[in-house]
Amino acid sequence: MKKKISILGSTGSVGQNTLAVIESFSHRFEVIGLAAGANILKLSEQIQRFRPAAVSVACEKDALDLKNRFTQTEFFWGEEGLEQLATLPEVDLVMSALVGAVGIKPTWQALSVGKVVALANKEVLVSAGPWMMDLVKEKKGTLLPVDSEHNALFQLLDCHGFQGLEKITLTASGGPFLKIPEKDFKMLTPEQALRHPTWSMGKRISIDSATLMNKGFEVIEAGHLFNLRGTQIEVVVHPQSMIHGLVSYQDGNTLACLSLPDMKIPIAYVLCYPERYPQEVPVLDLTKVGMLTFEGVDGQKFPLLGVAYEILKRGGHWGAVCNAADEVAVGAFLERKIGFHQIAYVVQKTLDAFSDLFSKSLEGVYEADHWARTKAQYVIKMLS
Ligand SMILES: NC(=O)c1ccc[n+]([C@@H]2O[C@H](COP(=O)([O-])OP(=O)(O)OC[C@H]3O[C@@H](n4cnc5c(N)ncnc54)[C@H](OP(=O)(O)O)[C@@H]3O)[C@@H](O)[C@H]2O)c1
Repeated sequence: MKKKISILGSTGSVGQNTLAVIESFSHRFEVIGLAAGANILKLSEQIQRFRPAAVSVACEKDALDLKNRFTQTEFFWGEEGLEQLATLPEVDLVMSALVGAVGIKPTWQALSVGKVVALANKEVLVSAGPWMMDLVKEKKGTLLPVDSEHNALFQLLDCHGFQGLEKITLTASGGPFLKIPEKDFKMLTPEQALRHPTWSMGKRISIDSATLMNKGFEVIEAGHLFNLRGTQIEVVVHPQSMIHGLVSYQDGNTLACLSLPDMKIPIAYVLCYPERYPQEVPVLDLTKVGMLTFEGVDGQKFPLLGVAYEILKRGGHWGAVCNAADEVAVGAFLERKIGFHQIAYVVQKTLDAFSDLFSKSLEGVYEADHWARTKAQYVIKMLS
């Protein structure tokens, strides 16, 4: 029987890669639902090609226009639309690939009704990690990490377990500014920051990769996913992005997971899990790769990585505040309201003003998120 899939964020980078994988296995998977925001042109092509039973978009007008064109499909919109697409009764697996905090609720709803969730949207665990992982435990649910690093670690830990685990290592490409001196950060433009050396991704994650906030989010994500402390999570710069994750055991063995830097590989892994199907993507040829290099992270130049370790230690709603402040700061940088070097400043200033008094619940996550957005906007206003 075909595995039935709903994709939240189908028009994004992960969403499009997911559809490309599904297309190459059309005898194994069926697209039941697609949810997107405002890219109606791309979404229309996807509806034409995959004929989903249900589609959701951000606004009502787009939903009604599409309904006139595609009469066989049911259309939804807004937050409720995302909920519908996350909980469609016939769906087996929900790909959670929205960007930012908008993905928290639908991911929660998908897990609540017992769907297998493939999680790309890392901000879900950064903001609501403790509550999300409690829900997974309570429902005996399945959360499969799509992020290449966490996917690699999941594969290693799934096989070799946690007994005698010393540490895990996340690799970082270092982003586009690895070799740019900190004194030149003031001059960097959104165009330069969006040019990632090894991965082609959406705007938010590309900017977060340039500040290393993305790697910090991955530290928090790994902490929640694998129930680890910050002291057990190491980050190493590995510009070739061939090794995605390593696990080290106390007996002196370190195991690594390698592949070409292509998101179709972890996406196919989670879609096919627990099986492995042959992929069109080539297997790594180490003789062609030649050399793999590693170096430590310059914490002075990329302070947001250190901030993330502190957030993981504090727990509570600090993750929600960090994510929301960063989302606002990245938006302001893309609109050229602040400089690249000021993204970290906005995040830090917002965190400095926070005292974690919101209720320890998912509702509290939204309150903290809302508080942080207002605060970050204020910090940005003060800068201009
Ligand atoms: N890209 C990667 O290689 C990669 C790797 C690992 C992890 N991730 C994580 O995966 C997530 C997605 O990344 P991405 O690069 O695919 O992002 P992206 O290209 O920006 O795509 C985001 C998707 O979310 C949709 N969306 C945004 N706001 C929405 C809203 N309010 N309502 C409905 N849909 C909305 C967008 O729709 P429209 O475009 O139609 O507006 C788009 O389909 C992020 O959390 C990222 O950190 C990405």
